[in-house]
Amino acid sequence: MILIQSENLKNVVVALLEKGGSNAEEADTVASHLVRSNLCGHDSHGVGMMPLYMNKLGEGLLNPNQKPEKVKEDGSILMFEGNRGYGQSVVKKAMEQALELCKEKGLVLMTVRNSYHMGRIGTYGEQSIAAGMVSLHFVNVTDHPPLVAPFRGSDARFATNPICIAMPGTAKQPPVLLDMATSRIALGKVRVALNKGENLPEDWLIDHRGQPSRDPSVMESHIYHDSGKENPPGALTPVGDYKGYGLALFCELLGGMLSGGFTIQPENERKGGITNNMLTFIVDPSRLLEIPTMQHEIEAMVDYVKASPPADPDNPVLIAGDPERISLEERERDGIPIDENTWEQILDAGVNLGLNRDDLLKTSGI
Ligand SMILES: NC(=O)c1ccc[n+]([C@@H]2O[C@H](COP(=O)([O-])OP(=O)(O)OC[C@H]3O[C@@H](n4cnc5c(N)ncnc54)[C@H](O)[C@@H]3O)[C@@H](O)[C@H]2O)c1
Repeated sequence: MILIQSENLKNVVVALLEKGGSNAEEADTVASHLVRSNLCGHDSHGVGMMPLYMNKLGEGLLNPNQKPEKVKEDGSILMFEGNRGYGQSVVKKAMEQALELCKEKGLVLMTVRNSYHMGRIGTYGEQSIAAGMVSLHFVNVTDHPPLVAPFRGSDARFATNPICIAMPGTAKQPPVLLDMATSRIALGKVRVALNKGENLPEDWLIDHRGQPSRDPSVMESHIYHDSGKENPPGALTPVGDYKGYGLALFCELLGGMLSGGFTIQPENERKGGITNNMLTFIVDPSRLLEIPTMQHEIEAMVDYVKASPPADPDNPVLIAGDPERISLEERERDGIPIDENTWEQILDAGVNLGLNRDDLLKTSGI
């Protein structure tokens, strides 16, 4: 493992993005998003995505410098087209417009279709929290073969379709932020395990015959978007059996279908990119109840839940958002751990773009 301070890591990523054609604002937004994912402990959606992004730029499946294109504004409904732009930047800008409209309307339904990978969806929940709003996000993933098997199935029919629900905090209680894949594990976490040479827990993966497997290489061809990889593709399993499977299906029908980006069913285009479509509800809670009442309820409810005596004294009860806060504090202090395979892949991606390896190492501060 290599430890890199967040600001240095961000500068490396900015260098790659700018070399890949992004303007300074976009490079800053995307790099900040990726590094914050690492800081929050979600290495799956952090800087390790850069080699793939740079490949997809080369293939014309990811377009730099896109703004969200408004395709509809109808009362409190806003619909955007992402034109395969960096999701981190396109959705940030779409959220800004939706949050502004929500101040006026109290409730907004916003969709973004056909953006390239939106990254860590919790980032948009945090954007909403910063504006004092409550938000719900349903996302599907298209343009590539599916990764996740339905409950009782033996091959993949979905991607890892994430859901995020965000609630502002109070002076005492930090925000509650649920941000989860509907698979037992996000694909990027299988990539991290593969790069570290680690096995995964039982029941998280099935192989190409539909049999349980702990070996992350069953997902290798998906991770590297390369059907020529030795292992025939297996699948991830849904979280919570049929319940997670039901949520994944609704990510297709809400995030995919209602946004007009459509679902992963095979009649729809699969060019080999990572397209995200998102449906977002934003609610101004002050239209529903007095803010002090809401804050009291949040504090009292979270205190009540956390007061449950832990089954294991070393593992107290947490709420959604706590693991990310704990990781953020540690990694801002100690630096971000990057495994050597991932780091080499990032450096190689920079060199392939024409950057100097020694300059990148110098920027990284290691
Ligand atoms: N863009 C995409 O296409 C895409 C697809 C899938 C996932 N993702 C992203 O991948 C990231 C990782 O997803 P994941 O499902 O692996 O995350 P995860 O399993 O690590 O965490 C899921 C949620 O559970 C909460 N949590 C974790 N441990 C907890 C505990 N002990 N008690 C209470 N709450 C706890 C976390 O705070 C988080 O809100 C997310 O940021 C998600 O948005 C993105």
